[in-house]
Amino acid sequence: MVYRVGLLGLGTVGTGVVEILQRPPHPLLQAVEIAAVGVRSLDKPRLVSIPPERLTTDLERMVSDPEIDVVIELMGGLEPARSLILKAIDHGKPVITANKAVIARYGMEIFQAAAQARVAVLLEAAVGGGIPVIQALQQSLRASRIQAVWGIINGTTNFILSQMAQEGSSFAEALAQAQAHGYAEADPSADVEGWDAADKIAILASLAFGVAVPRQAIPCEGIGSISPTDLRYAREWGYTFKLLAIAQRTEGQGAETTLDIRVHPALLPVTHPLANIQGADNAVWVQGDPLGQVVLAGPGAGRGPTASAVVGDLLTLLAHLQTGAHLPNPLWGLPASPPIASLLPLAEVQSEFYVRVLAQDRPGVMGAIGTCFGRHGVSLESITQKECHQELAEIVILTHTVREADCRQALAEIQQLPQVAGIPSLFRVVR
Ligand SMILES: NC(=O)c1ccc[n+]([C@@H]2O[C@H](COP(=O)([O-])OP(=O)(O)OC[C@H]3O[C@@H](n4cnc5c(N)ncnc54)[C@H](OP(=O)(O)O)[C@@H]3O)[C@@H](O)[C@H]2O)c1
Repeated sequence: MVYRVGLLGLGTVGTGVVEILQRPPHPLLQAVEIAAVGVRSLDKPRLVSIPPERLTTDLERMVSDPEIDVVIELMGGLEPARSLILKAIDHGKPVITANKAVIARYGMEIFQAAAQARVAVLLEAAVGGGIPVIQALQQSLRASRIQAVWGIINGTTNFILSQMAQEGSSFAEALAQAQAHGYAEADPSADVEGWDAADKIAILASLAFGVAVPRQAIPCEGIGSISPTDLRYAREWGYTFKLLAIAQRTEGQGAETTLDIRVHPALLPVTHPLANIQGADNAVWVQGDPLGQVVLAGPGAGRGPTASAVVGDLLTLLAHLQTGAHLPNPLWGLPASPPIASLLPLAEVQSEFYVRVLAQDRPGVMGAIGTCFGRHGVSLESITQKECHQELAEIVILTHTVREADCRQALAEIQQLPQVAGIPSLFRVVR
């Protein structure tokens, strides 16, 4: 039996997939034939050799071709990727995709179509590159009630923050290095603004909590405002900065489907399991009952690791088909008709905060700042005067756990104090 694969895209990941399939590491993969490869340009030089007659720009035809058994979508972007996936499903073909942007936005549409057509859609490569986190959340960890999934799931920002922490680089310098290493794109917005991580945590939360997550409602803050000064102070106190994607159940909110999902930079104690994930690596920390805590870590992107996840899905699919099963494993995919999660507004999130205030170096300033916090019920763990620049003193504050809205109201008042020149930094502290 030969399984004919149609590959949509022969870029970074597509090339890696062809490399693996040309030297199959598992006997089942010897049955795979790359029957067609869809690209934008037929003339582009390629890193792998594909017979020219198998390259095509007619992707629509490929996904409806009865000769193609499995479609692997590695083109990226929203359209035409979404329409091609739906068309492949409509023609009864199982689909493997690495496209987190499409799954985060159109996952429910795609999985409903797949359930109706009774075909599988597998997406291991969409989150965490080579880390097998999707199958873990779909299958291995499902016997526990998942309480929280936290991730460092964007390699570019983790590389930038690691460079800033280890080399003392500014954000701009570290970004330039990330671009030189090929980690960051020319337009790095999706990474540094946290949008890519938000796509991925939407997918992980859907799997962990069995809900549909409205992607656009996820609060998202990038890493551009972290300064070397903040990194230095954080280190002095035993913290490190990470861009965290957080999804967790809310306590005492009653509704089962109210979730706390957000993406933002945070100070993390250096003893936290996610604190030592360096460079472009990714990690996902899952907490469940009776499971306890599990950390999955490894290369979060790149040709080899991502292709390995894609081909792993292909192997899973082939093994399943070889048993003669006609229906996909019910544990695969996102739930087809789940309840829609409502997200806890950021203002209601309880957190500790790190605040850096620039104020005149005069007696009474610390007292005035403390009074403003006190008026809004924000209790402080520490308030310390650090360096002095000309007339201005740098005051660094760590709060106890407070409601975010209360902290922000206090800071709005502090900003108005005549002695205060500015509040350059406000970050959440998580533990
Ligand atoms: N790169 C990673 O490390 C990584 C990691 C995890 C997930 N992913 C995901 O994997 C997917 C692929 O990423 P990639 O980095 O491999 O992308 P890429 O290098 O930009 O490659 C995209 C491929 O798709 C083709 N393509 C794009 N739009 C097309 C269109 N409208 N018609 C025909 N062909 C089209 C391109 O054709 P041409 O070659 O002719 O231009 C190219 O071969 C994305 O969803 C991405 O988010 C990537």
